[in-house]
Amino acid sequence: MNILVVGGGGREHAIALSLFNSPQTKQLIVAPGNPGISKFAECRSIAADDIDGQCNLAKEIKADIVFIGPETPLVLGLKDRLTELGIKAFGPTAKAAQLEGSKSFSRNFCDRHNIPQPKFKYCYDLETAKKEIKSLNGYCVVKADGLAAGKGVVVCDQIDEAIQASKEMLEDNKFGEAGKSILIEERITGVEASVFAVSDGENAILIGTAQDHKRAYDNDQGPNTGGMGAISPAPALDEVLTETVMKNIVIPTINGMKSEGMEYEGILYAGIMLTDDGPKVIEFNCRFGDPETQVILPRLKTDLVDIVKKSVEKNLNNFKIELVSQKAITVVIASKGYPGSFKKELVLPSLDKVEKLNEVTIYHSGTSLNKDNDLISNGGRVFSISALGKDVKECREKAYDAVETINWDQGFYRKDIGKL
Ligand code: AMP
Ligand code: GLY
Repeated sequence: MNILVVGGGGREHAIALSLFNSPQTKQLIVAPGNPGISKFAECRSIAADDIDGQCNLAKEIKADIVFIGPETPLVLGLKDRLTELGIKAFGPTAKAAQLEGSKSFSRNFCDRHNIPQPKFKYCYDLETAKKEIKSLNGYCVVKADGLAAGKGVVVCDQIDEAIQASKEMLEDNKFGEAGKSILIEERITGVEASVFAVSDGENAILIGTAQDHKRAYDNDQGPNTGGMGAISPAPALDEVLTETVMKNIVIPTINGMKSEGMEYEGILYAGIMLTDDGPKVIEFNCRFGDPETQVILPRLKTDLVDIVKKSVEKNLNNFKIELVSQKAITVVIASKGYPGSFKKELVLPSLDKVEKLNEVTIYHSGTSLNKDNDLISNGGRVFSISALGKDVKECREKAYDAVETINWDQGFYRKDIGKL
C-alpha cells in the first residue's frame, strides 16, 4: 500500500514507524515529517495544515490511505477534501472533529447523550462568566471554546483568578477567535487517564490506555504543557474501569455521533477523570495523543495498517486489537523555558548511542537540520524517549539511562514519569 502520513511530531514519528514495520506498506511518505522519520521514510516539506498541499501530494503519490496525525487538518476538513477526491483518509470529518475542535459542541453533545461530564456554562460575555464563577466560588475551570494548542484551559481556585482568565479570553483576545466564547466548568477532582479507541463510524474498539504527565516539572508542578511524558497502560485503569469507560463514554459517543448524522471514524481519545461518581469526560480529542502514541504504539501487536484499513472500510465489527503485556513509558526532553519562551536552532547532541539501545526508541518531536546538516531544535518538545519493560521499574531504568546518555544541557525533562 502507498501510505501518506500527515504531520511531523513525535506522534507522527511513532505512527510512521509502526506503519513502516507492516509488511503491507510498500511506500511511506510523511509530510512534513522530521529528521528522525526521514531515516526510514521519504519526507516532503508540506505543512500539516496546508490542506491543498496535502491533497495534491496524496494525488501525486496515488496514496491508498492518508493517515492524518494532528487535529488541525482534521478540524479544517482534510478528510472531507480527500474523500471528495476519492482518496481514503483515516480520521474524522470536520463535522465529527468538532468533538475536539469545539469544547461547547462536545459538552452539549455529551449532555444530549447522557455521557458523564462536569457541569458547564457556555459564555460569550464577561458578565455571564462572572455570575457563573461566583456561583462556583471561583473553584472552576475556564476554557476557550476553540482550539488553542492545549493552552486555553485555566484551572482556578479563586474568583479573581477565574475572572481574569475569562477577561483575557473574552475581551483581551488572548487566544483570538478560539477564545471569543468560553466555558466555565465545575472543577472536578480525581486521577486522570486516557482511553484510545478506533471507530469505523459504527463500532468502537479499544486500542489501549495511557496516562499523560501534563505539568512541566516533577510532582505535577509548573505550567501545563502538551505533555512531558506518558505511561501505558494507565496505572489507574484496570480492566473493569476501562470497560466502564468504553460502555459509558466511548460507545455512547460513537452511537450518538451516528444518530446525529456525523459518523465518527478514526481515533477517539477520551481524556477522563476518575471521580467518586465514576469516570467523567474531561475532553475528547479526535486523534492520537502526543506523547501517548509513543507508549501505545510500541505495545501494539496488531498490525496498525489493519486497524486503519478496517476503520476506513467500515469493517471493525468483532475486530480485536492486541497489545503486548509489557509496559511502556516515554520521557519528553524539552528546551529550557518550554512551555514559555525557549530558544530554537540549538545544535543537538549525537543520538548514535541511544539509537542502538534495545527496546528503547527515540522519537523526534521538534527537530530539523541546518544548512550544515546538523540536527537542531525547532520546537519546545524536542525528543521523546520510549522504553518497553516487563514492569514500570524496568521501563524507567531503560528510558532514563537513555535520556542521561543524551546529556543535553540546554534541555530539561521530568524525572518522575511513571513513578508510582
Ligand atoms: P484539557 O485541555 O481540556 O485536557 O484540560 C487540561 C487539564 O485541565 C486537564 O488535563 C485537567 O487536568 C484540567 N481540567 C480540565 N477540565 C477540568 C474540570 N472540569 N475539572 C477539573 N480539571 C479540569
Ligand atoms: N498529550 C495530550 C494530547 O495529545 O492532547
